[in-house]
Amino acid sequence: MLTRRGLLAGAGVLAGAGVLGVIGRAERARAMGVSAPLPVPALMDARLSGGVLSLVAAAGRHRFAPDLPAVATYGYSAPCLGPVLRLRRGDAVKVSVENRLDVPTTAHWHGLLVPAQVDGGPHHAISPGATWRPRLEVDQPEATCWYHAHPHGDTGRQVYMGLAGMMIIEDGTGAELGLPQSYGVDDLPLILQDRLFTEAGELNFTHFARERILGTRGDKLVVNGAISPTARVPAALVRLRLLNAANARNFHLGFDDGRAFQVIASDGGYLPAPVPMQALTVAPGERFEIVVDFSDGRDAVLATTGDPPDDMPRTPGMGSLTSRDPSGAAKSGPGALVTLRVDPSLAAPRSRLPASLVPIAAPDVGRAVERRTVTLDMWPGMGGAVGAAGGEVGMGRLMTAPGTGPAMGMNGRRYDMHRIDFTPKLGGTEIWEVRPFLMQHPFHVHGAFFRVLSIGGAPPPDHLAAEKDTVLLGQPAELLLRFNQPATEAHPFMVHCHILDHEDGGLMGQYSTT
Ligand code: C2O
Ligand code: CU
Repeated sequence: MLTRRGLLAGAGVLAGAGVLGVIGRAERARAMGVSAPLPVPALMDARLSGGVLSLVAAAGRHRFAPDLPAVATYGYSAPCLGPVLRLRRGDAVKVSVENRLDVPTTAHWHGLLVPAQVDGGPHHAISPGATWRPRLEVDQPEATCWYHAHPHGDTGRQVYMGLAGMMIIEDGTGAELGLPQSYGVDDLPLILQDRLFTEAGELNFTHFARERILGTRGDKLVVNGAISPTARVPAALVRLRLLNAANARNFHLGFDDGRAFQVIASDGGYLPAPVPMQALTVAPGERFEIVVDFSDGRDAVLATTGDPPDDMPRTPGMGSLTSRDPSGAAKSGPGALVTLRVDPSLAAPRSRLPASLVPIAAPDVGRAVERRTVTLDMWPGMGGAVGAAGGEVGMGRLMTAPGTGPAMGMNGRRYDMHRIDFTPKLGGTEIWEVRPFLMQHPFHVHGAFFRVLSIGGAPPPDHLAAEKDTVLLGQPAELLLRFNQPATEAHPFMVHCHILDHEDGGLMGQYSTT
């Protein structure tokens, strides 16, 4: 099993070779050879556009590599993906999202602390031809967030087709700390995904039982819409904003030469101090900002080790499911994400990172007014719920569930748009014990940040010890949540697994505040 501990130990065993031992010399040579330049999404700054951000969700055609044909995709004001939206704390931004697709869609602001009324979840369906106009009052610390489609039952497919983009919230902290922040030069957005293509070259979003259980995975690693591209970076400190926008795959990141990097921020903003790491797992929905030192002029490949589903804990029967599909392992295999090539002609001023960033208070457990248990369930069918009952079930039964196929749920119930599952108090703090079943699930909460109190009974590692909205759970965890954004019965907030196939399958609940 690939645990963080295992990865760190592995990095040690490779004695500085880092991920190179995993991706292999051929792969490194290929990555270091000719590959497409890293596309840097257009920057849409709300301040420069008079406080107005206009997005158009539409179908397009996009090349994932220069030698591949342009294939059918979706995007926000782009053939695939969307612009990076930059918003400033304290500003009120008028957003418009026009839907030129032939299906309903939504635009959800993942990580933004805004009322559920403007959150863009499944209750905010924009009909084909219609335009949605939320007003976003930005009031949260500097952070990397993102936006993506979140329509009821079709989120996985729409994100796979390209409806996702990054958001950057700024409040001046990074500038004060002297962090790298010239966009596209020493501050790079990296939207990490994996994709599978059909023989005809089109995006392959098959949705058989296998994908619905394990999630949609692909054998091609795609960054900002390009297969394993190359970025030019200055010979200095470079900040990488990592966003896992894949449907299901966890990225287990490291550099091919084993170099260490500093994790400076996670979902909700800066860590109290940079955390040096050599291997970092980023689950779907999560963001981390890392700073990498290129001042020695040496190129590096950011790579991932494989994320085979049968490495997931608590997956009885998953092995046979994988071996029945020989391409299964390739769909979650290791590889190069992006090659970072040093270009000394690029000016970048940053050569030192401050020893401390933004202080963060210890989680105030004493304030919790409520304790809840939340189970992330996978069911054999309409009958006995797994998870809530504490049992486990073989994959065979999951796959042959009558009628509906494999089913997912939370606290024993499949997602229902018309049912409120939790009613926390507005302004209240709660402890949620979240129990994942059968496999690892990236657990995500809308409209609130949380602190991880424990995972599997142990305190979280340093890089998970700040404000989060998504966390990968292979074992039960305790989270301390603060509910400061209002939600109503008509416009509740979602709580779900960020494996989009699980979310679409019903592993989601919703809350309104009281
Ligand atoms: Cu990234 Cu419910 O969303
Ligand atoms: Cu899940």
